[in-house]
Amino acid sequence: MKVIVVTGASSGIGLAIAQHLCKKGHHVYGISRTKLHEKNVKSIVADVTVFEQLKSAYQDIYDIEGRIDVLINNAGMGISGAIEDTSFEDASYLMNVNFMGVFNSTKAMLPLMRKSGGGKILNMSSVASKLAIPFQAFYSASKAAINTFSEALANEVEPFGIQVTSIMPGDIKTGFTKNRKKNDVTSEAYLKRVEKSVAVMENDERNGMDPELAAQVIDKLIQKKRIPLYKTVGFKYKIFVWLQKVLPSKLANNIVGSIYAFKKDKKKK
Ligand SMILES: NC(=O)c1ccc[n+]([C@@H]2O[C@H](COP(=O)([O-])OP(=O)(O)OC[C@H]3O[C@@H](n4cnc5c(N)ncnc54)[C@H](OP(=O)(O)O)[C@@H]3O)[C@@H](O)[C@H]2O)c1
Repeated sequence: MKVIVVTGASSGIGLAIAQHLCKKGHHVYGISRTKLHEKNVKSIVADVTVFEQLKSAYQDIYDIEGRIDVLINNAGMGISGAIEDTSFEDASYLMNVNFMGVFNSTKAMLPLMRKSGGGKILNMSSVASKLAIPFQAFYSASKAAINTFSEALANEVEPFGIQVTSIMPGDIKTGFTKNRKKNDVTSEAYLKRVEKSVAVMENDERNGMDPELAAQVIDKLIQKKRIPLYKTVGFKYKIFVWLQKVLPSKLANNIVGSIYAFKKDKKKK
């Protein structure tokens, strides 16, 4: 039995992970802004953008359980639209939830995990961290930041027996699609391309993998003695990530553009 904390456990991937790990007999604590009414998952209402809330929640868990073995930093959200049309507030909010949220949660957890004698931190990145999606620039950037953060973190905490993996799922069918915030304004110059691009990504997500697949991948990582720095979820996406690694950067980026950027539809002004 392991003591596990999952952020963003009220929906989608986080909920599937929490349910799956509970069924395996682990003690699972779910963090989210809305209360989770799920048998066996212990729900704690907290916002990942507020460090003090996480610090106090993790301390309470440690006091009850005497240790914390696994932290799954999963909470996240999306925004879409052209960079030119994105407000500073929306971009900052996304970075605050997706990236600073991982920082807050990790910072709050590390002293307790060190006291526990080690542990695993699994950070929910995305294939979009490696293949930057046009009109989802800030989302892609937030996930790339998680990868870089995870690499640095892994070296900092290895002496304490703490291991780190950046998880990179491809499209998964969850509430993420409906929760994605679209830019309030879309300039005429981008309108057609943004509409087409968002339609492609929404269609991919709605026909995406079952979140249970991500839960199974995480379960295997929890059972392993040594975990990798990166884990891609979904066979097709493993090929995409491999191609991104071996192809010249410009070619790989042009291929992504041919799927999501609709460059031929550009307006002259
Ligand atoms: N779906 C995909 O195709 C896909 C692919 C790759 C990576 N991912 C990543 O997987 C993670 C989970 O996404 P999902 O698809 O399961 O989306 P989802 O169904 O929208 O779930 C998002 C979860 O994050 C929580 N959350 C959002 N903001 C929060 C905040 N400020 N504080 C605490 N919790 C917060 C939400 O709970 P509350 O609203 O109750 O707070 C919810 O539980 C995200 O990091 C996402 O980027 C998703």
